[in-house]
Amino acid sequence: MKGKTLVISGGTRGIGKAIVDEFAAHGVNVAFTYNSNAELAAAQVAELEAKYNIKARAYPFNILEPEKYKELFLEIDKDFDKIDFFISSAIISGRAVVGGYTKFMKLKPKGINNIFTATVNAFVVGAQEAAKRMEKTGGGSIISISSTGNRVYMDNYAGHGTSKAAVETMVRYAAIELGEKNIRVNAVSGGPIDTDALKAFVNYEEVRDETAKRSPLGRMGQPEDMAGACLFLCSDKASWVTGHIFIVDGGTTFK
Ligand SMILES: NC(=O)c1ccc[n+]([C@@H]2O[C@H](COP(=O)([O-])OP(=O)(O)OC[C@H]3O[C@@H](n4cnc5c(N)ncnc54)[C@H](OP(=O)(O)O)[C@@H]3O)[C@@H](O)[C@H]2O)c1
Repeated sequence: MKGKTLVISGGTRGIGKAIVDEFAAHGVNVAFTYNSNAELAAAQVAELEAKYNIKARAYPFNILEPEKYKELFLEIDKDFDKIDFFISSAIISGRAVVGGYTKFMKLKPKGINNIFTATVNAFVVGAQEAAKRMEKTGGGSIISISSTGNRVYMDNYAGHGTSKAAVETMVRYAAIELGEKNIRVNAVSGGPIDTDALKAFVNYEEVRDETAKRSPLGRMGQPEDMAGACLFLCSDKASWVTGHIFIVDGGTTFK
């Protein structure tokens, strides 16, 4: 992995941050995006470069404006010679998900559309820009971070769950069409993972306790659990894995 380059959306917190740390620890250069935490992102860049002796850069980016990925990649081109991996991890929360993160009878098109834009459209435009560059250097690996909330019921999760189902289908289509360019496309689908996004759930404590109870491993998922799966899927060890949904759920989905 040493000397390769990862581009990832939402690298400042939660699962995205754990992925950035895991890849950097394996000698991968990282270009990550943030939404609001510019100061935190700058400190993170300095820490990553000092700790792992890699190149790190942070870029502001709003996944509610997916077309802007084109400009973002042009900026990244100025800092990095090539892109080997692209991971779409960022997710919206707060006001943008009003009418999307709620019970079925309270869903509103605007909230659902925002989540779709942030999840599916952002993956599509980001992956297209990454693929154009990977194609020129002999291939690469693309991952969408999904969730098992599209397979099992979760309170208030209809808006997110349907977008995650859609992005998993998009992953399979992309995998078929990009395979001839030696670009592999997969999703890593997590069960409940202890991050700020989950803490924003109105029933966070209930989800946390129920997840630990339901998992045969007796604990909640941690961001690092997702990062390990991403590292594997980007490595040569996964060289014939494409169009796949890799589930990291502590055994909770079946139970
Ligand atoms: N937590 C779970 O239980 C769980 C389970 C399975 C899958 N997932 C998926 O894992 C991914 C990451 O989730 P997480 O739980 O790690 O979330 P998180 O801790 O809330 O982190 C969200 C990240 O997205 C960025 N972000 C927020 N709003 C944005 C916007 N409008 N445009 C661009 N970036 C934005 C944040 O940047 P700032 O720091 O600058 O705000 C942050 O880096 C998501 O796709 C989520 O659906 C989560």
